[in-house]
Amino acid sequence: MKSLWLDRKSHFTSDAIPAEQHFDTIVVGAGLTGMVAALLLSRSGQRVVVFEARTLGAVTTGNTTGKLSLLQGGVLSALRSQYSLKVVQAYVEANKTGQAWLAQYMEQQGVPFQRRTAVTFATTDDGGQRLRKEAAVSRDAGLDVHFSRDPGLPFPVAEALELEDQAQIHPMDVLETLASDTREHGGLIVEGVQVQNVGSELPLEVATRKGTFTADTVVVATGTPILDRGLYFAKLEPNRSYAAALRVAGDIPKGMYLSIDAPTRSQRTYPTPEGELLLVGGYGHTGGRATSPQQHLNDLLGWANEHYPGAEVTHTWSAQDYQATNLMPFFGKLPRGHGRIFFGTGYNKWGMSNGVAAALSITSDILGGQSDWATAIHHRVTSPQGAIQAIRLNASTAKRMIEDKAKVRSNPEITDETQPQEGSGVVGLYKGEPAAVSTVDGKVCMVSASCAHLGGLLTWNDAEKSWDCPLHGSRFTPEGKYLEGPATHHLQKSPVKKKD
Ligand SMILES: Cc1cc2nc3c(=O)[nH]c(=O)nc-3n(C[C@H](O)[C@H](O)[C@H](O)COP(=O)(O)OP(=O)(O)OC[C@H]3O[C@@H](n4cnc5c(N)ncnc54)[C@H](O)[C@@H]3O)c2cc1C
Ligand code: FES
Repeated sequence: MKSLWLDRKSHFTSDAIPAEQHFDTIVVGAGLTGMVAALLLSRSGQRVVVFEARTLGAVTTGNTTGKLSLLQGGVLSALRSQYSLKVVQAYVEANKTGQAWLAQYMEQQGVPFQRRTAVTFATTDDGGQRLRKEAAVSRDAGLDVHFSRDPGLPFPVAEALELEDQAQIHPMDVLETLASDTREHGGLIVEGVQVQNVGSELPLEVATRKGTFTADTVVVATGTPILDRGLYFAKLEPNRSYAAALRVAGDIPKGMYLSIDAPTRSQRTYPTPEGELLLVGGYGHTGGRATSPQQHLNDLLGWANEHYPGAEVTHTWSAQDYQATNLMPFFGKLPRGHGRIFFGTGYNKWGMSNGVAAALSITSDILGGQSDWATAIHHRVTSPQGAIQAIRLNASTAKRMIEDKAKVRSNPEITDETQPQEGSGVVGLYKGEPAAVSTVDGKVCMVSASCAHLGGLLTWNDAEKSWDCPLHGSRFTPEGKYLEGPATHHLQKSPVKKKD
């Protein structure tokens, strides 16, 4: 599956592996967070290189739905249930700053985007109650939200909350502009370089598959942090969801819509020379834990078809983002790096503004400065709910690992003759070791079924044709190549270790 954003000829080409060994800053990851940080540091005169394991925007940023909005479903009331109003106001301020920076940058650089009204709608009484809470917290936090009787959707809604003058973007237009701007300021962006470790002594040694480099500062902008320092992977839940672009006859509602009721349903438009496309999204689940991801996509398409009959699907895709157990994005310094390793994560599907805010805060930290909103977010007290949620998440992860280990023993044994049906994958024991076998485009592949991060038992993703880890969200191709998540290695090719 390829997103609408990534399905085009890229204007960007990678720099070669640099001959020089030392940089002021090495940025790991060329998504929105990494590229904004790289631009700001390059602009300040720093010598910067971005190492990207895959390609520019390949993971979440190139697969987002691209709403740049301060109206964020039920996020503010959920935060308010854990934090003081001051902390919620700091979150809104961070997002306002991120949104304003990106909007101004797009205007200055001539990157097209559309101003739109954001709408969160409820279709149930319970959703209506949650919407009223969200409205109250939003107003307390300084947002000029109002209720609307008719948000213009082709189905009845119980209530709808609106915030005007938000924006929708093309994330790859933004990333490609950031990349060429970074280059004009002397920065390098090198694709296909996976960082595997960052040392803890200064200068920081950055080990990659293509050699070791050093830097005074490292920014880890890898979605979920690849380094296990601080155990952030254990404080984040990967949430995977689905999206589609559709050609619809007739007018499409112009707003950017999001349901507050589950399953989440999102809607926006995208202008093309042939008319506007409808973009729908939602139907998410914890990464690696759905029995059939394809079914989630089918449900999304079914919903779209119900309300836009006859719509022609042009693209389908899926992606995951990370939700912090305490609901607040993490950005700042990672432990054990002399205060020189920075990271940003946990945007909970609102990274267009949170990711920019994280990059702004990280780069001011590096260059000497800080904002009140960042200080308030850093100095918040961890709420009891946040701590309980972290314990719950890790208990469920540990339980899943134990259950999976028992389950794999009862699955049919994998042999050299095992050949799953086209498009499917099976997990079982091969010579006593967990093995994952799949058939894609007629090619049968066997790899280790133990995740290259901490050994979670992989599950088959029938929508993306990938092996996904139910513990912290790492994903791999059928051949075992790393796709995303906290792992820094590919899967072991053979399920049976060395002796084989
Ligand atoms: C379905 C979906 C819809 C969304 N819709 C919206 C929306 O409408 N509005 C909004 O505000 N937010 C939205 N989000 C969230 C937003 O897209 C993300 O929060 C944001 O894109 C994250 O950007 P990032 O730079 O942190 O991560 P990414 O874009 O994932 O970038 C991280 C990069 O790091 C690279 N990397 C990883 N490991 C390594 C390594 N070891 N070495 C080198 N490189 C590495 C990856 O390959 C990747 O390119 C959505 C998310 C999803 C999943
Ligand atoms: S992602 Fe952590 S064990 Fe797989």
